[in-house]
Amino acid sequence: MQSTQTRTPPRTPYVASRLPQVGTTIFTVMSALAQQHDAVNLGQGFPDFDCDPALLDAVDAAMRSGLNQYPPMTGVPALRDAVAAKVGALYGHAYDPGTEITITAGATQAIITAILAIVHPGDEVIVLDPCYDSYEPNIHLAGGVAVHVPLTPGSFAPDFAKIAAAITPRTRALIINTPHNPSATVWSAAHMRRLAELLRPTDVLLIADEVYEHMVFDGEQHQSVSRWPELAQRSFVVSSFGKTYHVTGWKIGYVAAPASLMAEFRKVHQFNVFTVNTPMQHGLAKFMADPAHHLSLPAFYQRKRDLFRAGLAKTRLRLLPSQGSYFQCVDYSAVSDLSEEAFCRWITAEVGVAAIPLSAFYQGGFEQRFARFCFAKKDETLNLALGRLARL
Ligand SMILES: Cc1ncc(COP(=O)(O)O)c(C=O)c1O
Repeated sequence: MQSTQTRTPPRTPYVASRLPQVGTTIFTVMSALAQQHDAVNLGQGFPDFDCDPALLDAVDAAMRSGLNQYPPMTGVPALRDAVAAKVGALYGHAYDPGTEITITAGATQAIITAILAIVHPGDEVIVLDPCYDSYEPNIHLAGGVAVHVPLTPGSFAPDFAKIAAAITPRTRALIINTPHNPSATVWSAAHMRRLAELLRPTDVLLIADEVYEHMVFDGEQHQSVSRWPELAQRSFVVSSFGKTYHVTGWKIGYVAAPASLMAEFRKVHQFNVFTVNTPMQHGLAKFMADPAHHLSLPAFYQRKRDLFRAGLAKTRLRLLPSQGSYFQCVDYSAVSDLSEEAFCRWITAEVGVAAIPLSAFYQGGFEQRFARFCFAKKDETLNLALGRLARL
């Protein structure tokens, strides 16, 4: 037998990056900085408290009763039924759990799968800046072109004239997100009506990222796309059990769409994850049977929002509205004229509270002197942070 040994060490072949612009995200950078400085991490968006023990019990019971093998590709029927019942009760749209709902590995996988299912090379997808950081690379991976349209500076309201101007014969889809990360604003019924009018003469599809659907405050209603039959007919509606039930690490969510769109979605889904872990699906189905578990969420988070805002109001940070989600943005221009990233590094290192610069959510950055805090934290964590921020 011939020796394959050579003098030169083995070499990993060069690969041209599919995502050359993508580096370490600001979330990773700020979390590392928070750890290094022992700062209270109000940067990354996840709870520091645990989920309801009844949910853990339901998953444990599913595991112990042997529900540990592959579930159906589309998700456990009981969970798809529970999602259909919830969406029907809250928004009045009757999705068929057999053909119109699929359980996904978090909203993240739902979004990339929807994009891969509908975007052909060269297609354009409109995203509204500031936006969640996965949309743009997802569109690139599908060979599409992300067309960035800014939300109105200051109010973060959709600018329909600008969206209309961005629509071309190549526009395949528009991605919207309400309640909105990072601004914590929500779309109104009037916005949804205007959106329906705008899209009516087009074949533009909609991806509605509604992961914070159960966190809308001050008695307002979440304007799910599924409330609007005309919009629902052209939409993938995406949500996240991780956000709703305080289990972001479980990475489980769902997508609802009309059957013809869902058929295309499932063609991709079956070859990127095939399906999602079984016992969590059974546990969630059982837990969701009590609607109080999601209906209590607005009051739960509104109390934390109010506690956090009351503390921040004593500082020179100017509070932006927080209508939904678990984020609170501030204008720090009375405190500092540093750039947003420099300011967030500074409060992390010097004040001991980590935040995220809003510029990170804009293509190419956009400086407004705004920073985002996450208040999905124990009261003691929020009070600790407020104690430190009090000197601002
Ligand atoms: C707007 C938005 N969409 C999607 C996601 C991802 O959700 P999941 O953890 O279910 O993948 C997040 C998480 O932060 C988000 O803020």
